[in-house]
Amino acid sequence: MKILTVVGARPQFIKSAMISKEIQKSEEIQEVVLHTGQHYDTNMSEVFFKQLQIPEPAYYLGVGSGPHGKQTAVMLTEIEAIMEAIQPDIVLVYGDTNSTLAGSLAASKLHLPIAHIESGLRSYNKKMPEEINRLITDHLSQWLFCPSAFAMENLRKEGITKGVYVTGDIMYDAVLHFKDIALKESTILNDLELSKKDYNLATIHRAENTDDPEKLSSILKALQQLETPTVLPLHPRTKKKIEQFNLTPFLSSSILVVEPLNYFDMLAITSQAKLVLTDSGGLQKEAFMLEVPCLTLREETEWTETIKTGWNQLVGTDTKKIIQFATSIRAPKEHPPLFGTGKAADEIIQILKRCFEKKD
Ligand code: UD1
Repeated sequence: MKILTVVGARPQFIKSAMISKEIQKSEEIQEVVLHTGQHYDTNMSEVFFKQLQIPEPAYYLGVGSGPHGKQTAVMLTEIEAIMEAIQPDIVLVYGDTNSTLAGSLAASKLHLPIAHIESGLRSYNKKMPEEINRLITDHLSQWLFCPSAFAMENLRKEGITKGVYVTGDIMYDAVLHFKDIALKESTILNDLELSKKDYNLATIHRAENTDDPEKLSSILKALQQLETPTVLPLHPRTKKKIEQFNLTPFLSSSILVVEPLNYFDMLAITSQAKLVLTDSGGLQKEAFMLEVPCLTLREETEWTETIKTGWNQLVGTDTKKIIQFATSIRAPKEHPPLFGTGKAADEIIQILKRCFEKKD
């Protein structure tokens, strides 16, 4: 069985690492990795391949950044040609990026079956490019691997019931697998002179926040005024926008700006943070998995189950509201197992093998 894995952006590298490890245990599966190059900076891409020992991509498209239509179109053209040349049995796509969309569109036109990992998530906000990407991908996929029963229910509401499996969250596999190694190997707390539970961690990269100067400045103003200092690993998109909107003066000394972090540093710094503030989907979950309270800097989230537990709160981008919630949020007593048992990768590969043998 030949699997073509299509990845392109940082969170996909982390997720695919766990599946690749599982595939390597199986002699019957050959994995071919295609990297679109949507993320291309060393610290957004290469460092993850090295640290997480992801197989070297057989194909690197180097699409880089650009308007959504153009970026996706370039990927589509290239991916289609590669698929025709190598004829995979299954195309594996992850999450909700433009690389996910391009991989699934190209596959569906060539009648290649698609397996979508992290399926069934919805924000119900079609202004988000990610929402369009996951909607289309889910409706084109033959196998839909959901991180939670909640995600499966979202699919059912759209009439998708065939090929749907709740396997738990692949990112939870990664957290369990790498947490101890990360805590041992990462020196980030020392390097930044941080004490455990005495700093906040913030990330901002969603277009809805970065591309709106008011929202971006409102978030930065809040971070500036929090009681505890805040580490801000700065996504390249956010960096560009802060410069473009002349918001650099907001990055005062209580905000510690650092380059995007590698996975081990990110796990270490998240697990020891007092509070996480983010608009990232992945980090909301990781905060929950590592039992750190989180404020989500958006109006809605795909990960509503984390909100219900009290570990995550939706605060939007209003300065006062962020400060108020940051002061009042406490770690709840209960920590329910929302995202499975950390064996999602194993289960996904077993299901694919079974279905493939049966031609199901
Ligand atoms: C993408 C995904 C998002 C995912 C995120 C993780 C889409 C629509 N969005 O958003 O779902 O959560 O990745 O980070 O696919 N840039 C660099 N260097 C890089 C990568 C990006 O400078 O290595 C800059 C470019 O200026 C680019 C901007 O970041 O214009 C945004 O890049 P884009 O490909 O849209 O990805 P993200 O915003 O990261």
